[in-house]
Amino acid sequence: MGHLMAVILAAGEGKRMKSKKSKVLHMACGMTLIDWVYRSVKNAGVNETVVVVGHKAEDVKESMGDNVLYAYQDKQLGTGHAVMQTNEHFKGKEGQVLVLCGDTPLITSETISNTFEIHNKNNNSATVITAELQNPAGYGRIVRDKNNNVLKIVEDRDASSSEKNIKEINSGMYCFNIKDLEWALGELSNDNSQGEYYLTDTIEILIKKGLKVGAVKVDDRDEILGINNRVQLSMADGILRKRILTKHMENGVTIVDANNTYIDAGVKIGMDTVIYPGSMIQGQTEIGEDCIIGPSSRIVASKISKGVEVKNSVVLESSIDDNTCVGPFAYIRPGSTIGKNVKIGDFVEVKKSIIGDKTKLSHLTYVGDAEVGENVNLGCGVVVVNYDGKKKNKTKIGDNSFVGCNVNLISPVEVKSNAYIAAGSTITDEVPENSLAIARARQVVKEEWVIKKNMSRKIDK
Ligand code: UD1
Ligand code: CA
Repeated sequence: MGHLMAVILAAGEGKRMKSKKSKVLHMACGMTLIDWVYRSVKNAGVNETVVVVGHKAEDVKESMGDNVLYAYQDKQLGTGHAVMQTNEHFKGKEGQVLVLCGDTPLITSETISNTFEIHNKNNNSATVITAELQNPAGYGRIVRDKNNNVLKIVEDRDASSSEKNIKEINSGMYCFNIKDLEWALGELSNDNSQGEYYLTDTIEILIKKGLKVGAVKVDDRDEILGINNRVQLSMADGILRKRILTKHMENGVTIVDANNTYIDAGVKIGMDTVIYPGSMIQGQTEIGEDCIIGPSSRIVASKISKGVEVKNSVVLESSIDDNTCVGPFAYIRPGSTIGKNVKIGDFVEVKKSIIGDKTKLSHLTYVGDAEVGENVNLGCGVVVVNYDGKKKNKTKIGDNSFVGCNVNLISPVEVKSNAYIAAGSTITDEVPENSLAIARARQVVKEEWVIKKNMSRKIDK
């Protein structure tokens, strides 16, 4: 087996998306359309990929980075012309090249591998991936002879009325022998209804030279769906989502309502974790075994360990260790490291902070830029006052400390371990180990004040 490379066409404008963005950079389940294609290609064992860019070339390059090579197509003169631009990458190479489009995110690596295998087994010069469609309008048709051999591909606009009745269509994805494709591209003309260099014409050119061309028909038509507009984008997203959810379920994750659960492509989830409806798990998130996620939680690019509950809460770019409970209605912001057996209750916000094992932040608390030790109790309404109007300051709270309700910790400040802070205190100075800090005005009681000042609010009957 020689070199296996791929060419992904992505120079077109994609007008029907009605978007400022390149079509292939639209997202489905957390990945760009072209990344889906690239992923399938890579998983099928391709070692070199060339992306043909044109429209919004810089954006596409920035998104794909140097994982792939690029060819530039200045004017979009057709799919054949697009592949011609990759010439320099073909030079001196032997082996096979897969040609695909950047807007067909549903193609699987299995289909690509299968095509590649059949291509080699049958000693084909080219192998076309096809599908049988009830409504083939708009697609190129696969024309076969009496013996069912492929003869050519005819574009919809150039098809005769009998050719238009053919239900087998060209997916726009192929496997070619590099040398044969190089030669056939040189033979292309743009003598057709659109004045374009059609890649599809290489098929007839190869056959006329006596080379073998085969076709691989996909069973699942979804695989060849090309995205041209937002309706198709939403359809593709739905299909990809189902595939992702199915994989998780097969791996032992319970997804209570697959119609209302959104999990991105890169997410990993452990066995016996249960995901309740309305949850979105995005980015490179990892969730361990025996967790309960949702209802209605959003977790982005985070690491959640075993036995963690995240109910009706948002967790962004943070980590949460074993058996910790978050929510309902908590907000864990980027850069937070939450320990084991922690309780983070309702209306608690944690930002860029470390929370030690067994610590409790049960309700109505804000902790920002802080290091909170183990087994600490933060009472209801504790606020870490981390911002002085100019900069963010750090707060430290030592192990086993108890911070009473409605305490303000004016940062930078440190509370040492085993300390207590009385409710309602505003703490500006260090609280030493084993001490109690009270920082509030003493209560004053003025006896009979209401009567003397005639301030009674009783209603006379
Ligand atoms: C193409 C096929 C058609 C097939 C269909 C499947 C040809 C001539 N026709 O038609 O047989 O049924 O795909 O979807 O190939 N592109 C470039 N540069 C260009 C032109 C296109 O990079 O100059 C890229 C586009 O960005 C797109 C892909 O090639 O990703 C397909 O181009 P498009 O114009 O959509 O081809 P179709 O007319 O759909
Ligand atoms: Ca198309």
